[in-house]
Amino acid sequence: MAKSTAHPNIALIKYWGKEDPTLNLPASPSLSLTLSGLKTSTSVRLDPKLKQDVFILNGKKIESPKISTFMNKVRELAECQTFSVIETRNNFPTSAGHASSASGFAALSVACSQEYKLNLNHDQLSRLARIGSGSATRSIDEGLVAWQCGTDKTSFGTSIVSSDQIPLVVLSFTNDKSPKKISSTKAMEIVKKTSPYYDSWIKRSTADFRDALELVKNSDWQNLLALGEANSLGMHAATIAAKPSIIYFSPDSLKLMDQVRKIRAEKKLPIYFSLDAGPNVKVFTLKDKLAAVEKEFKDWDYTLSFPGEGAKLID
Ligand code: ADP
Ligand code: DP6
Ligand code: CO
Repeated sequence: MAKSTAHPNIALIKYWGKEDPTLNLPASPSLSLTLSGLKTSTSVRLDPKLKQDVFILNGKKIESPKISTFMNKVRELAECQTFSVIETRNNFPTSAGHASSASGFAALSVACSQEYKLNLNHDQLSRLARIGSGSATRSIDEGLVAWQCGTDKTSFGTSIVSSDQIPLVVLSFTNDKSPKKISSTKAMEIVKKTSPYYDSWIKRSTADFRDALELVKNSDWQNLLALGEANSLGMHAATIAAKPSIIYFSPDSLKLMDQVRKIRAEKKLPIYFSLDAGPNVKVFTLKDKLAAVEKEFKDWDYTLSFPGEGAKLID
């Protein structure tokens, strides 16, 4: 049996549009921070007696076409037809905009690589995770991770700053636990097809990525977070404008966004928000401002996340 762990990541510059929906090749490059605190733990065990894979997510056996497609890809690479028992747990809400697909497929890739003896190097592992879920390509790595556009061979994640060099901390709010009604995969399809702002979103996000790399180079963390907040709102603007309109914000998301902006203006604290495809808000700040920031959110349920490590095998 192979066991692994991986952390979700929060994108400062979002992946929100596919060039190729089968290979999950992105229409624009993205940049994310891998998060400690939130975690997926996975085990994979080959069982020659099985007639299909068994997938147990958070203690419940479920059928998942996404997992089946992914496992078929693994078997094709391994030239092995054996099915497996896959058991996995997220210590945070699944399908709620905390990037469970990122940590889920990163952990699964690492465990499958071992159990099916794929012997994958870093780049191959990140490419395999990408096939499961685009954002998973970035959860293979630690710290700040860039994911470039390209072909199946050239599009994968690379850590550009290691965890210990990043002075950031993230409050991962769980203001709404319920699973999203429209998955990220489906939403991206609808937005690409119907949002009048899709093309300009992709153009702008590509430019944001370039600017972000420059800010990282200059260790200009505060402006990086400001750019991240604007990029997240740009993604949601394109999404809200789709037909049918997709709104991931809940009343509490709006409350939190408002509170962040007020605290920034009134208390002069460097705090910024970002939301993925879901209602749960991530609030970024600098580590040395954490105590002051935490005082402002006493009434809320959140998990502290520091820059986290990449996906790995465990005993
Ligand atoms: P999220 O915002 O949580 O990433 P998505 O809509 O992108 O939500 O993806 C949710 C899907 O990710 C689930 O339906 C499931 O297929 C997959 N997933 C979630 N957790 C795991 C896990 N631990 N292992 C494998 N796949 C997972
Ligand atoms: C808003 O990686 O979950 O979190 O590739 O279809 O599985 P699929 O989608 P997914 O999309 C993530 C979208 C996002 C932004 C991001 O993480 O960059
Ligand atoms: Co996801």
